[in-house]
Amino acid sequence: MSRFLRTCLTALATGLVLTTVAAASDREAGAAVFRKCQACHAVGEGAQNRVGPQLNDLFGRTAGGLEDYRYSPAMVKAGEDGLVWNEESLAAYLASPRGVVKGTKMAFAGLKAEADRDNVLAYLATFSSAEAPAAEAETPEPAEAETAQAEMAQPEPAPAAAAPAAPEGAAAGDGLVLRLGREATAEEVAAWDIDIRPDGLGLPDGRGTVADGMFIYDDNCAACHGDFGEGIGRWPVLAGGQGTLTHDRPNKTVGSYWPYLSTVYDYVRRTMPFGNARSLSDDEVYALTAYILYLNDIVVDEDFELSKDTFATIEMPNEPNFKDDDRPEEAHYARDEPCMTDCIAGKAEIKMHAAVLDVTPEDTGDNEAPAVGIE
Ligand code: HEC
Ligand code: HEC
Repeated sequence: MSRFLRTCLTALATGLVLTTVAAASDREAGAAVFRKCQACHAVGEGAQNRVGPQLNDLFGRTAGGLEDYRYSPAMVKAGEDGLVWNEESLAAYLASPRGVVKGTKMAFAGLKAEADRDNVLAYLATFSSAEAPAAEAETPEPAEAETAQAEMAQPEPAPAAAAPAAPEGAAAGDGLVLRLGREATAEEVAAWDIDIRPDGLGLPDGRGTVADGMFIYDDNCAACHGDFGEGIGRWPVLAGGQGTLTHDRPNKTVGSYWPYLSTVYDYVRRTMPFGNARSLSDDEVYALTAYILYLNDIVVDEDFELSKDTFATIEMPNEPNFKDDDRPEEAHYARDEPCMTDCIAGKAEIKMHAAVLDVTPEDTGDNEAPAVGIE
């Protein structure tokens, strides 16, 4: 057993309980540090396992102790050997994850600064009932989240009971009423309606420079995509590959392949960082998009600021190789004005349910990262 583990065990055996009530400033600073973890970990109301396990009630948890998360054998072993997460063991683990749990699959180099470790632990403690009860009352999220959930839980109209009746005399499935779900709220539609056209239509207000983007990228993206967009392990490559499209194994990246910048903005805003989608502000997405252009040598000036106004000045190198689909057999597209509403006449009919069709693989709890870690 390592000396470190023994120390932790001794601490437990003597019943030493560390009760740290973190100061608000520590927690705020900790929330900022936690952004480094967010790509892989969730915490707070409703937190789910992502690439890494959720971190609610972490203090007092046996290492590798969540039932519904697939840990590395090394983490399971550490727990069996008696490693329990407390302030001391967490501080050591965060300083050097692999120093403490050799063979952990947490692909994270560690937090070098002691202040960062202390602060992030103060922050995490606010989501742990074991160690910081006094802080709980001050945590703002739950109340808000509960209200939001309460609203969500009241579908209007309630599915079967209150669904609008089909017009009198109409056969089931006739007309527009499918008796599925409920009407989307204005907020839900607004949250969904965020597409951006190649010409920039639909872009939000905001701005961000290459230089801003570099910091945001290093904190939120580099762990998977590499410092220069080269990709860590098998995570996708974001930069380079120019001139390889005709090779046997083309290197398709934003720079070498993507035809429109709007797709980069939209994709990052909708889906990244992986596991924590929709967590970035519009300004941050502008900055990241600018930085990805910079990584691809499409812009060269670190002061370049991307916004609605400068968006149209960018041309993606591979755009000319993309052509409109004008094949006559694609009837919806081949006309001058593509059909956007009521394109198929007649009855609406439910032919199959996704759950029956089984298109969505079941969540087996196998959250293993496809990549090998950073050493
Ligand atoms: C690149 C993804 C990644 C990042 C970034 C990351 N982690 Fe992890 N973390 C993981 C994975 C994966 C595991 C599971 C490790 C294992 O099973 O060996 C883990 C495990 C843990 C555990 C053990 C939990 C348990 O249930 O035993 C703690 C604590 C933890 N991480 C805290 C953090 C904190 C705090 C940060 C930020 C400072 C962080 N991690 C950053 C992926 C990550
Ligand atoms: C935990 C790992 C992880 C982190 C962190 C992450 N990504 Fe990704 N990224 C992925 C994965 C996985 C894909 C591919 C997803 C797919 O194909 O379904 C991807 C795809 C992308 C793509 C598209 C690449 C292509 O050519 O298809 C872009 C652009 C991108 N990420 C940008 C970002 C940005 C910007 C950030 C930081 C805000 C970020 N990613 C953070 C894992 C990550």
